[in-house]
Amino acid sequence: MNNHIKKYAVVGHPIHHSKSPAIHQCFADEFGLSIRYEKIDINPEHFVDKIHALRNQNYLGLNITLPFKADAFAMCDEVTATSRMTGSVNTLTFIDGKIYGDTTDGIGIVRDLDAKHIVIKDSHLAILGAGGASNGVMFDVINAGPKSITLANRTKTKADEMVNKWHSFAKGNGVELRVIELHAFNGQGYDLVINGTSSALLDGSSPIADHLFQSETVYYDMTYGVETRFILNAKHKGAQYFDGLGMLIGQAAASFTIWHKLQPNLHLAAKALEVGL
Ligand code: ATR
Repeated sequence: MNNHIKKYAVVGHPIHHSKSPAIHQCFADEFGLSIRYEKIDINPEHFVDKIHALRNQNYLGLNITLPFKADAFAMCDEVTATSRMTGSVNTLTFIDGKIYGDTTDGIGIVRDLDAKHIVIKDSHLAILGAGGASNGVMFDVINAGPKSITLANRTKTKADEMVNKWHSFAKGNGVELRVIELHAFNGQGYDLVINGTSSALLDGSSPIADHLFQSETVYYDMTYGVETRFILNAKHKGAQYFDGLGMLIGQAAASFTIWHKLQPNLHLAAKALEVGL
């Protein structure tokens, strides 16, 4: 085995479905870099010990996926301002025994929307869900300068907590932040609706009723790998819709840049995965 090859991995539980190795390999090929990028399933009871073990085995960096992004945040020696605000880490870098954490999920969705020519600046957005996925993209979505963001969540208290957390940052960026209960969401007047709920994975449902979809709104589901009811509804309505595969490529590209100081081409990776971008 070559001891000098640069080692990286994505860790999660489960992890067998992950496309991150293929994406990072594609980026590495673009620059002629020799890397090894694996996927590693971690038993949640042993997360911290396993991360330390991987660091000791000379892995240079790790991507962190569900359900470990908050655990990863908690164990870093240093985190970026974006990570601190989102409470989430999806990229670990090991330097001289220290663990540095960053989150690239928000950059991932913003870059993907940009690549798809969906303009966030001055638009009216709705974000459905107030869990880790929605919180994880707020920093970068606010920074992209929409006119308003409406947070709609099934459990109002959780949405209120999320608004409290982001209120001053949004205000400082001139973004109006509103909160409503999901059942009060009428679907009208939004340029873009982002689904950050886990309803499709939990019970296959759409977080909003079929009749609320509008043909002139763009629908973006952070879930990928399955055609969700949310995506199907948007499709039936004749609206523009996207799943989260482009976001996955975008966040992977930003992690790759942190590790290798190189900016990979999103379109090449999308082509390699045979998806549109
Ligand atoms: P993740 O890290 O994937 O975001 P999470 O933190 O558990 O997971 O958050 C899941 C989100 O999906 C929550 O906003 C949840 O709503 P509640 O706060 O009311 O629990 C939302 N969610 C899950 N199932 C849902 C459903 N069937 N309809 C609407 N929202 C749902």
